[in-house]
Amino acid sequence: MFDQIDKIRKNAKELVKDATGSAQLEEIRVRYLGRKGEVTAILRSLKDLSLEEKRKVGPAAQQLQKELRDLIEKKSADLKADGEVYELDVTKPGKRIETGHLHPLSKLEEEIRNIFLSLNFSVVEGPEVESEHYNFDALNIPEGHPARDMWDTFWLKEPGNSKLRNKSSRLLLRTHTSPMQIRYMEKHNPPFQIIVPGRVFRYEASDATHEINFHQIEGLMVGKDISLANFKFVIETFLKKLFGPDIEFRYRPSYFPFVEPGLEVDMRMTAKGGKTGWLEIMGAGMVHPKVFDAVKYDPREWKGFAFGMGLERLAMLKYKIPDVRLFYSGDTRFIGQF
Ligand code: DAH
Repeated sequence: MFDQIDKIRKNAKELVKDATGSAQLEEIRVRYLGRKGEVTAILRSLKDLSLEEKRKVGPAAQQLQKELRDLIEKKSADLKADGEVYELDVTKPGKRIETGHLHPLSKLEEEIRNIFLSLNFSVVEGPEVESEHYNFDALNIPEGHPARDMWDTFWLKEPGNSKLRNKSSRLLLRTHTSPMQIRYMEKHNPPFQIIVPGRVFRYEASDATHEINFHQIEGLMVGKDISLANFKFVIETFLKKLFGPDIEFRYRPSYFPFVEPGLEVDMRMTAKGGKTGWLEIMGAGMVHPKVFDAVKYDPREWKGFAFGMGLERLAMLKYKIPDVRLFYSGDTRFIGQF
């Protein structure tokens, strides 16, 4: 037994001395001190010895155990201090690489763009800083019109010497994407059909369903015989492609100064408790003759429909998100789910 102990001591010391890395050192520890290790085996076999033998071998084996433990510990510290020799363990699991991805709102916007592209619409964009003329007046919302209260506006301070100081073109952050209707019609002749995705701003307190900045998608189709029937076809096709064939929606008369008649589209929603209700998802209508006047289209020759919807509202419905503010929270636990 003592011979065996000496032999183990000699071999183990040599191995520890030559070890070049912590993995190797760990192998040595397991080989001698592990559950099935050689030293452990001796300690376990003590119980089969006579009392006398036990008294001799016991302390020697325990001494060896302690010695090897200290030795391995010291070597481990030495290796660390030397800057351990790099060992490549190809069997270790790889590190997961985190990749970024599009924000849920960008994803949804892209999906919506593609649906309208498939319906032969073009996609155009416009400025976020707008003039009062495009945001309001040309859309049949002159100063003093009570409908202006529908849009709480961020007005911009202007430099004192600005040529823009004349009152009719004060600057603001656009409150909707509708001004692009005017900008587009000023530069293009009908017939055409466009959508305008973009960021809009409202001077409002934010809560679970309101943000001071959000996104809209405006639509405008102008042609010779365009009617509400065309609008209904386009919107029905769009909503079914986005939400699936089983959704229910309805049209309801409403008022916006730049359309006549005006209407709103509601979608049937099922809340948590199973209760269903109607939720407004867009405003729309037939382009008002005064809007055509503003861009010098002849309202007797051309007809058109327009619509505007909130991207966040659609995203909340599609992904069942309870609070708009999550979109801008920058919280990766939220963003990472998409
Ligand atoms: N611009 C409106 C808003 O922000 C939404 C809207 C309503 C757009 C009717 C339209 C429309 O094009 O025809 O509340």
